[in-house]
Amino acid sequence: MNPTNIRQQYRHIRRQLPESTQSLHASLLKQNINDLLGSPKALKIAAYIATQGEISLKPWIAENKHHQIFLPKLYEVNAPELRFAELTKDTQWEKNRFNILEPEASWENTLLPQQLDIVLIPLVAFDREGHRLGMGGGYYDRSFAFRLTQKNNSQPKLIGVAHSCQEYPQLSQQSWDVPLDSIITEKEVITSEPGTN
Ligand SMILES: Nc1ncnc2c1ncn2[C@@H]1O[C@H](COP(=O)(O)OP(=O)(O)OP(=O)(O)O)[C@@H](O)[C@H]1O
Ligand SMILES: [Mg+2]
Repeated sequence: MNPTNIRQQYRHIRRQLPESTQSLHASLLKQNINDLLGSPKALKIAAYIATQGEISLKPWIAENKHHQIFLPKLYEVNAPELRFAELTKDTQWEKNRFNILEPEASWENTLLPQQLDIVLIPLVAFDREGHRLGMGGGYYDRSFAFRLTQKNNSQPKLIGVAHSCQEYPQLSQQSWDVPLDSIITEKEVITSEPGTN
C-alpha cells in the first residue's frame, strides 16, 4: 500500500474505535508512560490534545504532578514550525487553523523543540523500526529535523504514542522523516530497532 492509502485506512481505523475502547486505552497508556519515564528527575515533556481518534493523554496529564508539560503551537513565520507552550492551571485556549486546541501564549513564552527532554508524538501509523506516518503536514518532521544530523546527542527523545491497532508491518521512510526512539501503546513500550525489519 502507498502512504496515501495507509494514511486513509489507518485514520479510519483510529476514528472507528468506540468511546469505551478509547477510555480504556487512555488509562492503560497512562501506566505505560509512567513505566517508561520512571524518572525521579523533573522533565520538560511535550504532549498533545488528542483529535480524530488519537489515543488520549488526558488521564496521564491529569495525574502528572512531577513533570513540566508543554503543548505544541503551530507557527508559519517563514516555514511551518512547532513551538511548545507550557500547560498550567491558568492556561487559556485558542484553536489553530486545523481546529486543534492550543494554549494561548506569546511567541517569547514558548520553547524551541531543542529545549524539550521528551516529545510525545501522535501518529497515524507506526512500525517497529520507529518509522512514523503522521497527518501529512510535515510539522513534526520539520521541527525535529535537527535530530537527523546531530551526532552523539539524541535529545529530545521522540516517543510515538498510538493505539496498538495503528501498527503497520513496514512503513517506507522518506529522507525527511525523523524516526522515533520508541513507541508507547496501550499494550506495550516498543524500543525502535532500526533496520531489523
Ligand atoms: N525538514 C523538512 N524540510 C522541508 N520540508 C519538509 C521537511 N520535513 C517534511 N517536509 C515536507 O512535509 C511534507 C509532509 O511530510 P510527511 O508526509 O512526512 O508528513 P508527516 O510526517 O505525515 O507529518 P507530521 O510530521 O506533521 O506528522 C513533505 O511533502 C515534505 O516535503
Ligand atoms: Mg513524515
